[in-house]
Amino acid sequence: MTVTAWAPGRVNLIGDHTDYMGGLVLPMAVQLGTRITATIDPPGPGHGHLVLRSDRLDGIVELALPVTDPTSVEPRWGRYAAGVAAELGTTVGATLEVRSDLPIGGGLSSSASLAVAVALALGADGTPLHIARLCQRAEQAATGVPCGIMDQLAVAAGVDGHALLIDCATDDVTPIRIPESAAFWVVDSGQARELAGSEYATRRTQAEAAAAIVGPLPHALAADIEAIEDPVMRARARHVRTECDRVHAFAAALAGDDLVRAGQLMVDSHRSLRDDYEVSTPVLDALVDRLVGVDGVFGARLTGAGFGGCVVALADPAVALDGIRVRPTAGATVRRG
Ligand code: GLA
Repeated sequence: MTVTAWAPGRVNLIGDHTDYMGGLVLPMAVQLGTRITATIDPPGPGHGHLVLRSDRLDGIVELALPVTDPTSVEPRWGRYAAGVAAELGTTVGATLEVRSDLPIGGGLSSSASLAVAVALALGADGTPLHIARLCQRAEQAATGVPCGIMDQLAVAAGVDGHALLIDCATDDVTPIRIPESAAFWVVDSGQARELAGSEYATRRTQAEAAAAIVGPLPHALAADIEAIEDPVMRARARHVRTECDRVHAFAAALAGDDLVRAGQLMVDSHRSLRDDYEVSTPVLDALVDRLVGVDGVFGARLTGAGFGGCVVALADPAVALDGIRVRPTAGATVRRG
């Protein structure tokens, strides 16, 4: 049997380092993604093997089934597939040909796109939320990074022409139409996201420590946050709280076609990620400054985990930037037979 699965990448327009704290995010599935053609072995006696080849990533991944430990698989990109196979309890072998037009490690969530495409190719079914949760667990197990749900859910649940307002406390997903007057660009800073894993976990721990004092950060009172004694915890909490407000305001600005306001909120978000959450870098700051100085650009901010990677910019459609223009796209699909 042959199965073809496709999963988009995603860009986060606003709302970073809020998902794992039960906050708001506003990502958008994009037109670039991962396509997998899988040939599933006929079920037979004993357990099979999974073989993956990629047109972009080096090496051939060979996994004995069932997968029990995805953490030491080589080549490393195979860990995402191994995590998914372990979650699914896959025992029937298959050969997966992976093709991607996403920049790898470039801020468009190539890893979540790969994981969701593998999950669909290997027969995962259920709601987009169910598939996203499975892939989130797979990624956490495979990489050790305690990531939130945003990337996988944006990839699985994308809606053509829309970004997704996701409340990560309730998993409610509200599509937000992207106006014709808005063009989003992803611009690579050229700085690899080296510290993303360890520093990401540290930020999460700090935010959780703050929440243990003042309660869930998205709804904490500003006065309570300002009363937190530890200055680092206070700043982390302030970012999560204010970022959730900005996500709401940004969704309203898009709905009202107020791109000047939306752009300002993106710049405010970047400053908060830089000053309160400390996940920016001088390279990202300089890129944001340069982009907001371009005529026709309404705003820009780092997107995703930070520590390098990409910037997302909101611009007039007449403007061309030195990056990838990303367009709102539907979520992952699968065709069997
Ligand atoms: C990474 C994680 C997401 C999210 C972002 C920051 O992309 O995978 O869950 O936490 O960082 O917003």
